[in-house]
Amino acid sequence: MTLIGSLYARVSKFRQQAKHRMNAARVPGCPSSTRIYGLIDRRGGGEVRIGENCLILGLLVTEAEGSRISVGNNVFIGSNTVLECHGSITIEDDVQLSYECTLLETDSHSQSMNMREGDLGKHMRGDQHDWGIVASKPIVIKRGAWIGTRTIILKGVTIGEGAIVGAGSVVTKDVPPHTLVAGNPACFIKNLA
Ligand SMILES: CC(C)(COP(=O)(O)OP(=O)(O)OC[C@H]1O[C@@H](n2cnc3c(N)ncnc32)[C@H](O)[C@@H]1OP(=O)(O)O)[C@@H](O)C(=O)NCCC(=O)NCCS
Repeated sequence: MTLIGSLYARVSKFRQQAKHRMNAARVPGCPSSTRIYGLIDRRGGGEVRIGENCLILGLLVTEAEGSRISVGNNVFIGSNTVLECHGSITIEDDVQLSYECTLLETDSHSQSMNMREGDLGKHMRGDQHDWGIVASKPIVIKRGAWIGTRTIILKGVTIGEGAIVGAGSVVTKDVPPHTLVAGNPACFIKNLA
């Protein structure tokens, strides 16, 4: 490796480590075996918990004081994946959550045009968002599930143990354990052994 190449590698490693330290400080009790190279954004307070041996490259957002994101052990969260949480998102052990997925535990806006009119102005002024007029329901991804790239999972969905969601799916309903689903909206494809 050239001198410039080796310097570049050292600076990149230093930046990665600094990013991990900054994010780990936002996760109470973050184990030393876990690496967070993505971003923990506790913009409304709330809590993020992450277990052992995890690699977190995505963005985890808690919107309110009562928001809870809980990640088990041996979990991968790919880059450009976003967890948007007002209530609760639970990801159990051994889950693979691929690149560019979006988990929307909340709709973020009211379905009434009049009620969502002021949302942007409030956001720009840094005022409290009115979560009372927004639908939110917990998302749970059970142990050993594998979520393909660019999947969207909507509010209220539970992905069963060992299930697989095909790339590019939009999951609007619960997925039974050990099944493969895919499509928009995601449909049953087959049982898994
Ligand atoms: C569109 C949306 C607001 C509707 O919410 P809702 O009224 O609670 O909808 P429901 O969950 O009752 O679903 C109603 C039907 O539409 C289907 N559906 C809902 N959203 C869907 C989507 N994005 N893609 C495909 N089908 C969808 C559901 O499967 C259900 O089908 P069914 O009648 O055959 O059972 C919500 O599903 C959504 O997409 N939320 C995400 C909003 C968002 O992008 N927020 C980001 C921050 S700006």
